[in-house]
Amino acid sequence: MHLAIIMDGNGRWAQKRGLKRVEGHKKGAEVVKEITTYCANNPEIKILTLYAFSTENWKRPKMEVDFLMKLLDNYLKKELLTYIENEVKFEVIGDISKFSKNLRERIEYTKDKTKNFKKLTQVLALNYGSRDEITRAVKKMIEKEEEVTPENIQKNLDLSRDVDLLIRTSGEIRLSNFLLWQMAYAEMYFTKTMWPDFTSKELEKILNEFKKRERRFGGI
Ligand code: IPE
Ligand code: IPE
Ligand code: MG
Repeated sequence: MHLAIIMDGNGRWAQKRGLKRVEGHKKGAEVVKEITTYCANNPEIKILTLYAFSTENWKRPKMEVDFLMKLLDNYLKKELLTYIENEVKFEVIGDISKFSKNLRERIEYTKDKTKNFKKLTQVLALNYGSRDEITRAVKKMIEKEEEVTPENIQKNLDLSRDVDLLIRTSGEIRLSNFLLWQMAYAEMYFTKTMWPDFTSKELEKILNEFKKRERRFGGI
């Protein structure tokens, strides 16, 4: 199955504790590691797509944006071993052309070192927005003079696999421009837990609930 997560609530988690927002992002990165490791060892989950930075997140103060970029670079550097040990293939969706050369090289290096792993694909959504993704897909189709069909649109997206289950943490009940096309028939689960407090135990509980849902896809 394809699990997608909107990792939300880092800032509020920190502020509630009298800490700076960036402390929430730091703790959030540890949770990314825990959840990825859990998913790699759960044979039912084949793809884990994590919303890490949206096309709208550039609106934040420069200091926070810079911190997130640095955190991502450090994470990929530090956790390469975790990807290798758990046989996780690392991929990215979104338009990373705006990222620094350093960070783009780190991303390419991590992708290359993990490209043959098959237990889990972890997809990070970086400078990702659904509208941007669909717009870029349509542009590619025009360039290639492809016929406009749902299949061709889907094929030209950054991520072609439909989402089976979406989880959003922090109590917000919205999609914030995440995988709109791919979630046409996704099951959704919203939890009040802030991302830094999210655990593999809670994920397991949500997966059990997901299994009980009846997915009809328009049929009966
Ligand atoms: C999610 O946490 C992480 C990113 C969007 C990068 P937030 O930073 O949005 O935390 P809140 O929603 O302000 O609490
Ligand atoms: C969505 O969270 C983006 C990520 C988790 C990366 P936001 O915190 O940016 O979303 P809004 O602004 O509350 O919709
Ligand atoms: Mg938020």
